[in-house]
Amino acid sequence: MHARKAITGILVNVCRLVISLTFIFSGYVKAIDPLGTQYKLQDYLNVVQLGQYVPDYITLVASVLLGGLEFCLGVFILFAIHRRLVSRLVLLFMAIMTPLTLWLAVANPIKDCGCFGDAVILTNWETFYKNIVLLAAAIVLCVKPLGMPRFISRSNQWIVVTYTIIFILFSSSMCLYTLPTFDFRPYHIGANIKKGMEIPEGAKGPEFETTFILEKNGQRKEFTLDNYPDSTWTFIDSKTVQISEGYVPPIHDFSIQTTDGSEDITDSVLSRRGYSFLLISPHLEKADDTNFGDIDQIYEYCQNNNYPFYALTASTDEGIQHWRDITGAEYQFYLTDETTLKTIIRSNPGLLLLKDGVVIGKWSHNDLPQLNDQSPKLERTEYGQMPQNSVTCKISKIVLWYILPLLLLTFADRTWKFTKWIKEKEHSNKIYQLFKRKKNMRKKIVAGNWKMNMNLQDGIALAKELNETLNNNKPNCGVIICTPFIHLASIAQFLNQDVIALGAENCADKEKGAFTGEVSAEMVKSTGAQYVILGHSERRGYYGETPEILKEKVQLALKNGLKVIFCIGESLEEREAGKQNDVVKAELEGSVFNLTAEEFKNIVIAYEPIWAIGTGKTATAEQAEEIHAYIRSIVAEKYGKEVAEDTSILYGGSCKASNAPELFAKPDIDGGLIGGASLKAADFMGIIDAWK
Ligand code: PGA
Repeated sequence: MHARKAITGILVNVCRLVISLTFIFSGYVKAIDPLGTQYKLQDYLNVVQLGQYVPDYITLVASVLLGGLEFCLGVFILFAIHRRLVSRLVLLFMAIMTPLTLWLAVANPIKDCGCFGDAVILTNWETFYKNIVLLAAAIVLCVKPLGMPRFISRSNQWIVVTYTIIFILFSSSMCLYTLPTFDFRPYHIGANIKKGMEIPEGAKGPEFETTFILEKNGQRKEFTLDNYPDSTWTFIDSKTVQISEGYVPPIHDFSIQTTDGSEDITDSVLSRRGYSFLLISPHLEKADDTNFGDIDQIYEYCQNNNYPFYALTASTDEGIQHWRDITGAEYQFYLTDETTLKTIIRSNPGLLLLKDGVVIGKWSHNDLPQLNDQSPKLERTEYGQMPQNSVTCKISKIVLWYILPLLLLTFADRTWKFTKWIKEKEHSNKIYQLFKRKKNMRKKIVAGNWKMNMNLQDGIALAKELNETLNNNKPNCGVIICTPFIHLASIAQFLNQDVIALGAENCADKEKGAFTGEVSAEMVKSTGAQYVILGHSERRGYYGETPEILKEKVQLALKNGLKVIFCIGESLEEREAGKQNDVVKAELEGSVFNLTAEEFKNIVIAYEPIWAIGTGKTATAEQAEEIHAYIRSIVAEKYGKEVAEDTSILYGGSCKASNAPELFAKPDIDGGLIGGASLKAADFMGIIDAWK
């Protein structure tokens, strides 16, 4: 079963690679030669006799879109973007192309189908077989689209889609405005036209066979030269057929003739030493005349410097005259085959510079060399030199502008995905969770609640003793002492709050003003205290503090930069009625769940069952753990797992040195809020040491 799955996976991804690379290549070579693709489309339309009905701009737009579509489909399959949709589109594309190429192969109306532009020329049958392979691969992808793993997460796919579309349309437009980025035709820069026309010695030329039809006694028969009969037979007819193609040189249809057809100057142009310019326009009627001024200037420059300037066209005399009328052209026109001219340069008009018969420069009419009567001789200009290493430079540009950004994006995306995956694994892994808890990700705390005990002198003495002991013997947890208001300012003077923090037991629910006897959060903060206990059951019970009042107090405390130890817990009756969970939940919802997650990070929860406070009765470690875990779960529900994991939840109620270790060993108990046992340094230290 596993092996079958693995083989399917490999097969799907091989098909993915074959389709994507083929589509990217064929799309790109079409896209960078929009005019070449347009000529091909027009050839097809002419075959089905529709050429005259479809305007040029439609075929041009169609050629840009066709190249772009193929390129995008290839890239999307490579990245496995919208896998289902894209593999169906690829199948649709192949389902249209395959029968079309079968027709091409059988009927042979056009010799080269043009599927790879001029980059790779296949015969029509080769194209058909290639398409059969691609069709099969497209079917595989369509059946198992999810077998292609994504290179980029779903949420980032739009970046690749947008960037690819922009890149290919921009490339196409640039190539249309100037010339194709890569020139695969025999007239590329560096090509020696005359050499391209030569047939190497010993190469086989095309072979022909002639058959003769002769008659004797009313009977007709066919003969060849080998079995030609005697003169009793009468000659009727003969026919000659080509039986083999023979060697066809890369350039086989290049010629330059005078417009009256009287002279062929091909050889004199190609054999000439030095520079000559060829202005190329297959159709002068359709040529772009916006830059004729630049052309005239170059012609003038040639006149001044004795460089020959030939204008080659396939247009009629009327076409030539029309061009002369609108541009005032003075240069001489010559005739060359239309297809040849279209092959030489993808611009109408375009300019070619030959040096000793070798092409050393090619320019679209939008990008003509700036040569005028002030310009030096060609040898001393950049135009007169053979461009160096242009292919490497072009490839580096593509890498820099397209491939590299996508690689970086993929890398960033995969790193992001990997960290997300690790985090998910951590959350779902119980062992890791346990390990993490024991590693104390959240703060462990032992806080003392002095309640209404100790006069100023006794309080200061106790605080001093604790300060000294803990500074000498550093605790393994956070230690806080919450004292009556009157102690705060004095104790804050000497307490090392990095080791032992100071807090109040209460603060007012009003900001300031005529509230006799109250102490505001701001006042507490001004003493140097950092914490305040709010919601203690004694204040809820004896002083009627409602959830609403506590909500105000919490807000004011946080606003003044105090951290809140917020107490919750059920009464004995509520516990006996099994309502403890509802009670603690309501208490949190009533006063602190209105906070933002950011504000909530300043809350320490203290679970204190009222029946255990000061009674000597402690909740068992299991009872406490159960409700602590529940409290954490509702915090998680409200603020998410991460906040819940970081929230310290303390236990309070008859906690002492003897039971603290058992309680603190529980994963959801992060320390204690200690009443009675915080009034003597030794007792309190015993509890703090439970963390050691
Ligand atoms: P207790 O008090 O430790 O004396 O039970 C705890 C508290 O009320 O905070």
